[in-house]
This record gives sequence, C-alpha cells and structure tokens, in this order.
Amino acid sequence: MSFSDGERHTRRRRLVAKAFTRRRVEELSALIADNANRLLDAMAAGGEAELISGFTTPLPLNVMTTFLGVPFADQGAFQRWLDLMVSVDPADVADIPVGVTAMIEYIAALIAEKRAQLGDDLISALIQLSDEDGGLGGSEVLAMVFELMTGAYETTKNLLSNGILALIEHPGQLAALRADPGLTGPAVEEMLRFESPTTSTLWRFPREDVVIGGRRIPAGDPVLPLLGAANRDPRVFADPNRFDLFRPNLKHVAFGSGPHTCPGAAIPRLEARIALPLLLARLGDLRLAVDRGQVRYRRTFMARALNAVPIAFRAATQDIAGTPAASREAAKSAAAVSSPKW
Ligand code: HEM
Repeated sequence: MSFSDGERHTRRRRLVAKAFTRRRVEELSALIADNANRLLDAMAAGGEAELISGFTTPLPLNVMTTFLGVPFADQGAFQRWLDLMVSVDPADVADIPVGVTAMIEYIAALIAEKRAQLGDDLISALIQLSDEDGGLGGSEVLAMVFELMTGAYETTKNLLSNGILALIEHPGQLAALRADPGLTGPAVEEMLRFESPTTSTLWRFPREDVVIGGRRIPAGDPVLPLLGAANRDPRVFADPNRFDLFRPNLKHVAFGSGPHTCPGAAIPRLEARIALPLLLARLGDLRLAVDRGQVRYRRTFMARALNAVPIAFRAATQDIAGTPAASREAAKSAAAVSSPKW
C-alpha cells in the first residue's frame, strides 16, 4: 500500500477495508479490554511499574497479532523484528536485515499454513478476499500483512506511552479526564496531536514542480512531510505547545492525509479509548517514579518513541470478581465513545 499508487493502491486498500468487518472490530473491543485488564492486574500489584514494558508494548502487540492470527508463542519474535525495523542504533545495523528477512519468511510460512486451513482471522480473510478479487499471488497478502503489522505496533505503542506521559505531566488535564470519562475521545485526539506517534509520513515525490513556503521543489525530488511539526502549526492550533483536552474541532494529521491516510486509524483510537479509562480507574494518583529528565526518547526513525517510563501509583481496590468495579464502569463509558468509523 505505502509503495503503490493508482488502481493497485486502491485495490489493496479496498481489500483491507473489507477484511476489517464490523464483527471483527466488535471482537477487538473485548480483546482490548481483556488484555488491558490482565496487564493492569499484573502492574497494579506492585505500586510501581514500567509503563512501556508493562502496558503500552504488550497491549498493541497482543491485540494486533491476535487480530491477524499470529500464534501467541511467536509474539516475542515479532516484537524483536518490529523493534529492529525502526532502530537507528548502530549496534543493530547488522541485525536489521536479518530481522526483516526472518519476519518476511515467518509471515510467508504462516500464510501458507492458513491457506491450507483457513481460520477466522484477518490473514485468512485477506487470503480469501485477495483470491476472490483476482488475487495477485501470495506476495500481495504477504506485503499487506507485513505492512499492517509494522503500521500497527510502534505507532499505537507510542500513542499510548506518549499520551499517558503527557497526562502525567499535566495533572489538571488528568484530573479533568478522571472526573469526566466522556472526555476520553477528545483526550485521545489531543494525545495524537500533541505527541504525534509517527513524526512523518513516508517519502513523497511531487509529480510536478511545486512551491511551498517560497521554496521550489522540483518534480521527482524526495519530500518527507513532518506530521509532528504540522500538528504544532501555530497557524492551525492556538497555543500549539499547550496540551489541552478541550480544544474545539480538533483536526490533526497524526494519521496522515490524502490517499495514503492511515487505513487502520480506528484501531488505535479504539485501543486508547478502551485502555485509558481502565488504566486510570486501576492506577490512582498516577505519577512518574523518576525525575522527568531521566525519561528519554529512543533513537528511532520516524517515530516519537520513549525508552522507558517508570510510574508510581496507588492501586485501586478489587471487587470480589477480581475486576475492579470502577474498571468495568470505565469500560462501559469507553465503549460509549468508541464506535469506530470504518
Ligand atoms: C496511533 C497509531 C497509528 C498512527 C499514528 C498511524 C499513522 C499513519 C500515517 C501517518 C500513515 C500515512 C503514511 C504516509 O502517508 O506515508 C499511515 C499509513 C498506514 N497505516 Fe497507520 N497509523 C497507526 C496505526 C495503524 C494500524 C493499527 C494499522 C493497521 C491495522 C495501520 C496501518 C497502516 C497502513 C497499512 C498504512 C499505509 C496506507 C497507504 O499507504 O495507503 N496503522 N499510518
């Protein structure tokens, strides 16, 4: 999808849109809530935890691999391959092509397995839909699965990590969100604007000469539009460096714009709208466990990605069923704001 245009591109997007059925998405809501609760159970016990390894990594990893139909036991390998893909750490240079090749080989084998016995997962749906639509062969499905996985993981992880950190750093906004779960939807949009999970789109190549900001860009020259900068454009957003859950008519470009705009945008929105109220209900008095200066960003390409976020909190009490009543209430109100637009 990312590297095609015109009819081929439209066809691939159509296949993906068809595979994301309403039923699949509804099932995703339950999967997100179950996973979030399981992770919070483990985290809440301690009173202190590391947000990224404890919550914001395993949640999108598990949701997306389960959605696709990747066996649970292989999630760790996927995590390593996906981390390598955005690394610019010199220590990883030799491992990156090895990881990419391993991931491609893994997905190819998984597709062959699913093709032999179709299941009720997204990969099986893509195989069927691609065949019905005059399938362009196994490599098309392989490329789509590869792209869905790489598109889904790092980005959603960053949305959750950066957004929760922004809330911790703005206690007034955090308190407003705790007081009114109806603010969850707007909060997720402001999280996407304020700390855009992916800082740029992929490369663009103008078809004709264009002039932007008084500078001529010749046809064919590579351009890397910076979404993070656009989302803090003072001509569009008043006081753009202020984190503000009450911005009216917030229209950011965190998911890009135009024909290549993110086809999966509803998934991270759903994930954040369900996970955030659950997390806030379980972890009271949420704060950093270290000085802000110790919270660093990873050296990555295209991603606004934190290294580690040690947090401290007061765990909410559990009810008899082992699920905090407050969490269930929060899940209900998240569901009310989480009707995805496909
Ligand atoms: C917070 C999470 C996410 C963010 C911020 C995000 C952001 C983006 C952006 C900015 C683009 C456009 C890139 C460009 O124009 O070159 C894009 C494209 C894409 N995204 Fe996402 N994305 C997220 C989650 C997801 C998820 C969950 C999926 C899969 C289910 C996904 C799949 C894709 C795919 C396949 C494309 C390529 C579309 C095309 O070229 O037509 N993304 N995403």
